[in-house]
Amino acid sequence: MTGKTLKKGSRCTICKSKNEKNKAVVFLPHHRLALCKKHYLEWFERRVAKTIKDFKMFNKNEKILVAVSGGKDSLVLWNVLNNLGYETEGMYIDLGIDEYSEDSKKLSVNFSNKINKKLNIVSIREEVASIPDIDKLTNKPACSACGTVKRYYMNKYAKNLGFQVIATGHNLDDETAVLFGNTLHWDLKYLKKQYPVLKEENGFIRKVKPLCKITEKETALYAFFTDIEYIEYECPFSEGASSIEYKEILSKIEEKHPGTKLQFYSNFVKSIYPILSEYDKKQSEEIKLCKKCGEPSFNEICSFCRLKELVNIGNTNN
Ligand code: AMP
Ligand code: FES
Ligand code: ZN
Ligand code: ZN
Repeated sequence: MTGKTLKKGSRCTICKSKNEKNKAVVFLPHHRLALCKKHYLEWFERRVAKTIKDFKMFNKNEKILVAVSGGKDSLVLWNVLNNLGYETEGMYIDLGIDEYSEDSKKLSVNFSNKINKKLNIVSIREEVASIPDIDKLTNKPACSACGTVKRYYMNKYAKNLGFQVIATGHNLDDETAVLFGNTLHWDLKYLKKQYPVLKEENGFIRKVKPLCKITEKETALYAFFTDIEYIEYECPFSEGASSIEYKEILSKIEEKHPGTKLQFYSNFVKSIYPILSEYDKKQSEEIKLCKKCGEPSFNEICSFCRLKELVNIGNTNN
């Protein structure tokens, strides 16, 4: 398991400074670090701990609900928070996407048993319909309906379960792909919301992304070294998503210029976001309570209830 430019026989940077002799197994070009397995895992957890602290995401007195999809990022995040001594529970949303949901649920349950932490499972089939059914019954693209459902469930159930903060596994590749898309379109409405902490307000729970400065490759390495089993194939509806294209473009740039992704994201968060959030104060949308379900919404009826209506119309037309 080596990075592209890890030279054969290189010693771990940290071991070298302590006069130990362990060989490096990982090379992180944009951090200029060659590390052995032990120091890689330590580096990774320290980096997540620093992100949590720098952005004041949460503290040890708070209980964190980790949104777990069965993918590597969210399972790694759960493992790291656990190792760092945070009190956690998991939440898995069963989207009813056939084999994909079955497999990812099983892996999430297995992992929660392994670390001996509670996993809360909610099924969208019971409250609305499975994602494949929503796809058939409405003209909404599955991925966008899925995003609406996930956001709604995360917020509603986290509150119902008594949590004030929910942590998701979004990583640096996810965040830069979204930032790239929003920048290409100069979409201020979304850009002004792209921050690793969204504070609780008006019925919205606090949402945090502790892996926002960790790349997908780095998470995969952590999962490999700690034997975390995760779902290795993509959701069948993700094919052709523009975010995948943006990830490929950014990875090509990163390969030639290591550190570009981190710089793109970090400089946005540090220098551009504060300007946008000032702008937000002047343009801010009013948050109401949905007339149907009572959850917070920017419209009279929230997007989840509107989706539910479309599903009902689709059902009666069939
Ligand atoms: P995605 O939207 O698939 O890129 O996932 C981003 C993050 O959302 C994951 O790292 C999880 O923290 C969370 N998430 C995605 N799908 C689910 C799910 N089915 N249940 C709970 N959390 C999820
Ligand atoms: Fe939501 Fe694929 S995970 S549509
Ligand atoms: Zn070492
Ligand atoms: Zn509603």
